[in-house]
Amino acid sequence: MTLAFPAAPTVSRDFIDLDRLTRDDVRTILSLAVAMKKDPKAHQPMAGRVLALIFEKPSTRTRVSFHVGMQQLGGEVITLSGAEMQLGHGETIADTGRVMSRFVDIMMLRTFSEHKLHELAEGASVPVINGLTNQSHPCQVMADLMTIEEKLGNITGKKIVWVGDGDNNVLTSWIHAACLFDLELCVVAPPEFTVPSALLIDAQRKGAKLRALADIEVVKGADVVITDCWVSMHNSDAAARMDKLQPYQVNEKLMRLAAPHALFMHCLPAHRGEEVTDGVIDSPQSAVWDEAENRMHAQKAIICWCLGLIPQ
Ligand code: CP
Ligand code: NVA
Repeated sequence: MTLAFPAAPTVSRDFIDLDRLTRDDVRTILSLAVAMKKDPKAHQPMAGRVLALIFEKPSTRTRVSFHVGMQQLGGEVITLSGAEMQLGHGETIADTGRVMSRFVDIMMLRTFSEHKLHELAEGASVPVINGLTNQSHPCQVMADLMTIEEKLGNITGKKIVWVGDGDNNVLTSWIHAACLFDLELCVVAPPEFTVPSALLIDAQRKGAKLRALADIEVVKGADVVITDCWVSMHNSDAAARMDKLQPYQVNEKLMRLAAPHALFMHCLPAHRGEEVTDGVIDSPQSAVWDEAENRMHAQKAIICWCLGLIPQ
């Protein structure tokens, strides 16, 4: 099917966090991702435009999915590491945003503090996309939502159980999603690494059906079981985390508590034998490879949304 994209960008907006988007925004992006996935090389609304990818942390999926996705959209990519740029090393990050905006049409930043991302977006006159910070990972959760709907249908009413690190950037973006959609999000985590109370209370106030518990039994009847590594790239307390999180491994016994149709999801990279066993990640219930692929489809739609390249 041919999608009728506008000939040129119609807006310039950032993709910073899901709590800055409306449910309609998320729906628009997901619909476009699904439509473009049907024929991934058929649409080139970014022809002649350039995406800059800036990484201050390692990446496999984000780097490759943005690169290949932008190429499929007809555009070009420049990939930079923060260490080789003047990003906060004398030149302010906002000034970097101003200068980069004279060269490229859109930027993605993976960094440590979200404040750097906000400063880049404030300086830039072109859209800035959050490619992960210590605090959030919204591109990942867009791919997760897409994957769940592909496999289980509409997200409404689904019971999503996050197991393991409750103070986690991917989880924060899931909590933002729980404020937008009528789903049940349960977090099973040790008290030492549970959801920060301000985030929990704020989300509940916004209507999220969100609970944070320490009892694995909450996995019962889950439609989706999700985890992430126990030690994220910015965490310095690895020993304490490894110790407290051991009882929260997603293994075959835990998955038996979930609904028979339940999916296992993980943003990857996985640490096999730590947060998940081989038996779970390699099982038919595991959606992790489709989830990784959907990063590309979701991000192609995010790029288009940032520039208002939405087919009529
Ligand atoms: N899930 C994810 O963002 O993977 P990378 O760190 O490899 O980009
Ligand atoms: N929570 C992980 C996600 C990696 C994609 C990290 O920040 O390291």
